Order: sequence, then structure tokens, then C-alpha cells
Amino acid sequence: MSSSRFLSFLRPDIRAMEPYTPIVPFEVLSKRLGRRPEDIIKLDANENPYGPSPLVRERLAAFPYYHIYPDPQQEALRAALVDYVGVPMDNILPGHGADELIDLLCRMLLEPGDVVINAPPTFGMYEFDAAVNMGRVVHVWRGGDFQVDVAGIARAVEEENARGQGRVKLLFLTSPNNPDGSLLRDEDLDALLALPVIVVVDEAYVEFSGRASLAPRVLEADNLIVLRTFSKWAGIAGLRLGYGIFPAWIMPHLWRFKQPYNVNVAATVAGLAALEDRAYYARTTAAIIAERDRLYEALGRFPFLRPYPSHANFVLCRVEGVDAWQLKLWLEGEGILVRYFRKPGLENCIRVSAGKPEHTDALLAALEKFAAREGVSP
Ligand SMILES: Cc1ncc(COP(=O)(O)O)c(C=O)c1O
Repeated sequence: MSSSRFLSFLRPDIRAMEPYTPIVPFEVLSKRLGRRPEDIIKLDANENPYGPSPLVRERLAAFPYYHIYPDPQQEALRAALVDYVGVPMDNILPGHGADELIDLLCRMLLEPGDVVINAPPTFGMYEFDAAVNMGRVVHVWRGGDFQVDVAGIARAVEEENARGQGRVKLLFLTSPNNPDGSLLRDEDLDALLALPVIVVVDEAYVEFSGRASLAPRVLEADNLIVLRTFSKWAGIAGLRLGYGIFPAWIMPHLWRFKQPYNVNVAATVAGLAALEDRAYYARTTAAIIAERDRLYEALGRFPFLRPYPSHANFVLCRVEGVDAWQLKLWLEGEGILVRYFRKPGLENCIRVSAGKPEHTDALLAALEKFAAREGVSP
């Protein structure tokens, strides 16, 4: 039933929201493309093609207590994360993916009209969660090289606070940034931390960056929060496990505010095993980094693609002289999924996740076929 006398009960801002573009489930896509799921090369969502390690699979299969509720405090997982992250467990809060923590922060901090600064092109959930939590999103666009506009952000914080219609509370930054893979510069972070705003740095892809995480800096700065996830490096995006590193002052409030059972038992079991199996993950992470670098180099040889250097597990390409949507559809017909963008700052772009070597081989072969058809061969 699409209409009801209770429709007016909905919050007006929720009623006015644009409909969500659903992600087509893998099995449905497989039917639509007429290919078995194992024959589809999925390079559209920055997932880890190696999946969970054998130890993670083993522990999940053997775990006997799925009928018992999870530990609301996530003591074991937080203790195991201390060594991995390099901060005390008192500063760590696990979540149902990093996504849950983005929502949690917005819900906890924003009063209607409070401002969230977003730095697009970037991950879409900051804008989404700010809006559903009645925040006002102010965009400060990144430059052509996807670097953050520090002066623009400083100006926006000052101007928005001066307007007096809600306080500027949160600034979301991503490093490496999705969708291009660029890193936040140290000097930019220093400058932004000097502003009267809570800076949330989302490090979902940090394991592929070859750089140290900013997590330990949370202990020195009371306005820095770092978000991380098991979705990418540990290959368990489907289980939903992320965590945040938070300054001490906010932790008691997070504990009071979060859903008690926000992290499920399977995610905890998998996360603990992944942290134990770091030698395995060092190998798969290195393989993904190698494939990303190969992808960047190989894509650049096609005259209609201009890839951006990336520190994450994907490569963004501007498509030149050819319609990126047509290219995406062509690749889909070949059983290869890539992400297409048609947003400001990302006109005519595709983003390709780094897969296994054979995935890159298949992608390059399909691109060569496409190039020959279009008469634009390297
Ligand atoms: C920048 C960024 N942050 C967070 C996420 C989501 O992380 P999680 O799976 O832990 O919710 C993604 C997923 O694509 C992402 O790109």
C-alpha cells in the first residue's frame, strides 16, 4: 500500500527524501546477466576478492554460541584491536560497519540545523547520514586533484557559525578518499584540527595505502575521530564490522547511546580470527596493492581512459571521448562490473576495484575488444 492516512505521521524531511537507488543483489544480477555468480567479475564496490581467510571461515563454522546475544562491550575484540591499532581499548568502539558509526555520530551530535561539512567528491554516507539526522550539509568541494580545500573549509566553518543557524559540528574526510584514492596531507589535517569542529577521518582503505593510520593521533587531539573497517582488508564486508577510535571525552556518551547489540556474534568471531591471521592478510593485501598498481598502469595505456593514482584498492578513471555509461554497459555485457559516476566533479568517470590478477586480465581483454570496436585502440 503506497498511500495511507498515516503518511502525515512521517517526518516531512524524510517524506521529501529522494528514493534510494537500491543495490541489485548479486544473485539477481547474475540472473539478469545470464551468468553464474562465479562467472561475474565484480569490480564495482571495492570488495576484497580473496574474501575471509581460511582461519576465519573455520572459526565461523566451528563457533557454537550463535544462539547467545553478543557482548555489548565487545571486550575481546577491543582487546585484540589494541595491538593492531596502537591505542588503548578504552578509545575503541566497534560498530556494525563503519557506516553505523557515521550514523551514530550524526545522531548523537546533531541538533536540527547543525552543520556537517562534507568534502565531495567523496563517500556518500556522510551526506546521507547528516541529512537523515536533520543536519544541514555544507559542501566544500575538493580541487581538481581531489585535495581538500582547507581554506574553503575554514571559511565555511567561520561563516556558518557566524550565521547562528545551528553550529558547525562535524567535518568528514576520507583518507584514502573514495572514489579517487588520494591521501589527506598531514599539514592539511593539522590545519583542520585547529578549527572548532570535530574532524572525522574515515580510513576504510588505510591498509592499502602503505601509510600509518592516524589512529594514535586521536590520543593527542580531542577533536579527531578515526573510523576503520574489516570490510576491505579482511574481506568480510557482508558481515558488517567496523570500529572507531574516539577521544576519551566522547566514549562514555557513545556507550550510553549505541544499540547494546550493534555488533553481531559472527562479525566478532570473524574479526578476532582475522586479527590472528595477519600473515595471511599481509599476503592478500600485498596482492591487491600489486594489482591496483598494475591496473593503474594498464588502464593509462588506453587513450580513452585517464586513471588517477590511488592509495586504496580501486582506480578512478576519467573517460575521455567515449561515453562512460556505454563503456560500463559494454563491460557488464562481458560479465565485468565497474562503478559508473555521473556526479559533479566525477562527470564521465568509472571506478574499478582491484581484483585478482585474472580479473585484471579479463578486464583488459574486454577493454581491448571495446577499443577495437570503437576504433580507439592503444
Ligand atoms: C570511505 C568509506 N567508508 C566506509 C565504508 C563502509 O564501511 P563499512 O563496510 O565498514 O560500513 C566504505 C565502503 O565502501 C567507504 O568507501
